[in-house]
Amino acid sequence: MKDIILTGDRPTGRLHLGHYVGSLRRRVELQNSGKFDEIYIMIADSQALTDNADNPEKVRRNILEVALDYMSVGLDPKVTTMFIQSQVPALFEFTAYYMNLVTVSRLQRNPTIKEEIKQRGFETSIPVGFLNYPVSQAADITAFDATCVPVGEDQMPLIEQTKEIVHSFNRIYGDVLVNPKIMLAENEVCQRLPGIDGKAKMSKSLGNCIYLADTSEDVRKKVMSMYTDPNHIRVQDPGTVEGNTVFTYLDCFCKDKHFEKYLPEYHNLDELKDHYRRGGLGDVKIKKFLFNVLEDTLQPIRQRRQELEKDIDYVMSVLHEGCIKANKKANATLKRAKDAMKINYFDNDEDSISEYYKKP
Ligand code: TRP
Repeated sequence: MKDIILTGDRPTGRLHLGHYVGSLRRRVELQNSGKFDEIYIMIADSQALTDNADNPEKVRRNILEVALDYMSVGLDPKVTTMFIQSQVPALFEFTAYYMNLVTVSRLQRNPTIKEEIKQRGFETSIPVGFLNYPVSQAADITAFDATCVPVGEDQMPLIEQTKEIVHSFNRIYGDVLVNPKIMLAENEVCQRLPGIDGKAKMSKSLGNCIYLADTSEDVRKKVMSMYTDPNHIRVQDPGTVEGNTVFTYLDCFCKDKHFEKYLPEYHNLDELKDHYRRGGLGDVKIKKFLFNVLEDTLQPIRQRRQELEKDIDYVMSVLHEGCIKANKKANATLKRAKDAMKINYFDNDEDSISEYYKKP
C-alpha cells in the first residue's frame, strides 16, 4: 500500500506560528523525508464557507495568502500537490454518500463541533453544512487514500469521525477505503501554542497571533509585549517558567545552537530556565533572545514569501496544476467507491442494470 499524506487548512486568514509548530513544520519534514509516495495539501475553501457563507470575499482573498504561506515554509510543488477543495467535485459526491452513514446526534456529539458551535453562537440555528463538515472532511481524506493526516490536536475528533465512516463504508461495501492515521506535533507544548497574551490558543479571533508574514518589526513588538510571569516584577525576583509564554515559545523553537549564536553565557534552555527560577534574569533579556530565535525561523520564510509575491502567476499555476492532479486522484477513488456501491449502471455489460431483464 502506498503511503499518502492529505491535510489542509481553511483559508480564513494568514497562517501563524500556532499553525507552524502545530503542523506546518511537520509537513515540511515529512515531505523532505522522502518516505511518502504522494502528498496532497488542500486549501479548504468549501469548508471555510460552512461558517462564512455570507463572507465569500474573505475566503477568496485568503486562498493566495495560504498558498504563499505553504510555499514559503518550504512545501515544494514538485513533491507536494497543493490544491483548492472547491475545485474537486468528487469530494462533494463522496460527502453525499457518507452522509448516509452518520447520524445527526453523532455529529452533535463531536467535541470540536460542539466547541465551534458555541464560539459561533450557532446553538439555536446550526447551518446544515457546518454540522456536516466532519463528513466532508472524511471525504477529503479518503478521496486521496490518505494513510497519514498531519494536523493540529484540535482535529483529532474529526479524524475519529473519518475512521468511523471508513469502518462503516468498508463493512457494507467491502474493503474500499483506506483507514487514515492522525499525526500530531511530536512535542506536546507545540500542539497548542498559546497566544502572545498567554491565552489558551493562538487564534485570529483573539488577536494574539504572530503571523508567518509579519515584518521583523511586528514580531519584535509582539514579543516585547508578551505575557510572562506577572509576579516577576524586579529582575532579582525569582520567576516561574511554567505558563510563562516566552518560555513556552522557547520550548517550541529554541535549539542549543541558538545559545551559541545569540546568548553564549548559557549552553541550553535548561540553564536559562534555572537562572530565571533563581532570580536575576530579566524579562527583556529573555524576550530579546526569543525574538532572535523566532527571526531565525521567520526570516527565511519572509524572504521566500516576498519572492513568491513578485511572481503570483507562478503561485496560481501551482494551484491550477495541483487541482488537475487532485481531480485525477479523487475521481479514480470515487470510481472505485461507486463500483463497490454498485452505482455504475452504464460502465460495462456485467454491471449494467439491464441484466435484471436479460437474465432468465
Ligand atoms: N479542518 C481543517 C482546519 O480547520 C481543514 C481541513 C479540511 C482538513 N479538510 C481537511 C485538515 C482534511 C485535514 C484533512 O484547518
